[in-house]
Amino acid sequence: MIVAAYPDRGLTFVEGDGVYLTEAGGGRYLDLCSGYGVAIFGYRHPRLLECLGRQLYRLPVLHGSFANDTRARAARALVTHCGGGLARVTFSNSGAEANEAALKFAVLATGKKKFVACRGGYHGKTLGALSATDGTQYRRAFEPLVWDFQFVPYGDAAALSVAIDDHTAAFIVEPIQGESGIRLPPADYLNLAAHICRSRGVLTIIDEIQSGAGRTGTFLASQTEGFNYDILTLGKGLGGGLPIGVTLVSAEVAEAIPKGAHTSTMGGNPLAAAGVLATLEFLDEARLAHIAEVGDYFLESLNAIAAPLVKDVRGRGLMIGMEMACSRDAILKALQKDRVLAIPAGDSVVRFLPPYILEKSHVDILYEKLGRILASPLPETVRPCAGS
Ligand SMILES: Cc1ncc(COP(=O)(O)O)c(C=O)c1O
Repeated sequence: MIVAAYPDRGLTFVEGDGVYLTEAGGGRYLDLCSGYGVAIFGYRHPRLLECLGRQLYRLPVLHGSFANDTRARAARALVTHCGGGLARVTFSNSGAEANEAALKFAVLATGKKKFVACRGGYHGKTLGALSATDGTQYRRAFEPLVWDFQFVPYGDAAALSVAIDDHTAAFIVEPIQGESGIRLPPADYLNLAAHICRSRGVLTIIDEIQSGAGRTGTFLASQTEGFNYDILTLGKGLGGGLPIGVTLVSAEVAEAIPKGAHTSTMGGNPLAAAGVLATLEFLDEARLAHIAEVGDYFLESLNAIAAPLVKDVRGRGLMIGMEMACSRDAILKALQKDRVLAIPAGDSVVRFLPPYILEKSHVDILYEKLGRILASPLPETVRPCAGS
C-alpha cells in the first residue's frame, strides 16, 4: 500500500526500548542509527514520555497565529542554546522545510536568488532544499530546479570566494557532511567561509540538521568556531522524536521577513515544542560530555579493528562513519543479520548515528560482532576491490 520510495531493509519493528528495537516476532536489534539520527533519547525514555504526555494533555496543537507558552519557551531556549547572534526562530516540521525557510529568508533579506552550495552537500528533497542538494541521483528527474545554485568543493574556501559574485544571496553548508559520508572539513574552514561571506555581503546558512542538537558532543558542531550566524537550521532529534524543523535567524534577517511570507499549519505546534524543551533539558553538560566520551570510545574501537576492509574511520561525538574498501552494503547486511542496525552514507560508508543513551558496553557488542564479521571468510561481495 505504501509507495516504494524507500530502500527496503526487510524488517518490521513494532516497539523500542532503550537502544533496542523489537520485531513483531520478538527479535531485538541494537539500534545504532536511531531513525537516521532522530531517536536521540532512545526509546521509552521516562522523562521524554512525561514531558510529551503532559503537553499532549494540556494542549497539543495550536496555530502560530495564537501565542503559546510552551512554543515561546522553546524559542527562547533555542536562541540561548545557539547563541552567535541568532535572535529569532521559525518552526516547521522537517529538516527540508527548515532549509526551505532558510533559502526564502535569504532571498527576502538580500533581494538576490543566487546561492553557493557544496559538492556532496545534502539539505533535503523538497524542491528548494533539493536545489541545494548535490547528487544527480536525487536531482535528475526534477531538473530544472529552483533559482541559481553553484556547487563548489567542500572544504575549499578559495573556491567559495571565486564562486561568490554580486548576485549571491547566501552560502549553504553543513559543518560535517553527513549523507555523503561523514566528511569533516579542514580546521577553520567554517570560520574562513563565514568571514569570506560576511566581507562580501553574502549570508551564511549553517545546516546543522544532522550534526546539531548534541550529535557531536557540543550543542552545535559549529559552536566551537565562534563566529556569528546569519541563518542556522536544525531538525532530526531536536523534537525528541516528534517531527520538527527549526530555522534560526539574526535580528537583521528577521527584519526582512514580512507577515505571511512563510507559515505552516503544523509548524510550532506545542507538542513538538514540548519535545524541543525536553531535548534541551536532556542535553545538559553531563549528557554532552557523555556523547563526546562514548563517541571517542566508539571511534577508538572501530580503529582497533584494523581489518584490511576498513579504509577509514572518522567522525565526531556520535556521528561516525566507517569507510569500507568495498561493498559497504554487504557489511550492513552482515551486521543486520547479527542484529545490529547501521545505515549507509555516500557510496562506501557505514554510518552510525546512535541514540545518546548509548553506553560503552553497547560499543563493545558492535566491536565484537563487527570484528567477527570482518575476520571471517567473507562472501565474494565483501572481498576488497582490486586496487583498494
Ligand atoms: C544536513 C541535512 N540537512 C537536511 C536534511 C533533510 O532533513 P529531512 O529528511 O528531515 O527533511 C538532512 C536529512 O538527512 C540532513 O542530513
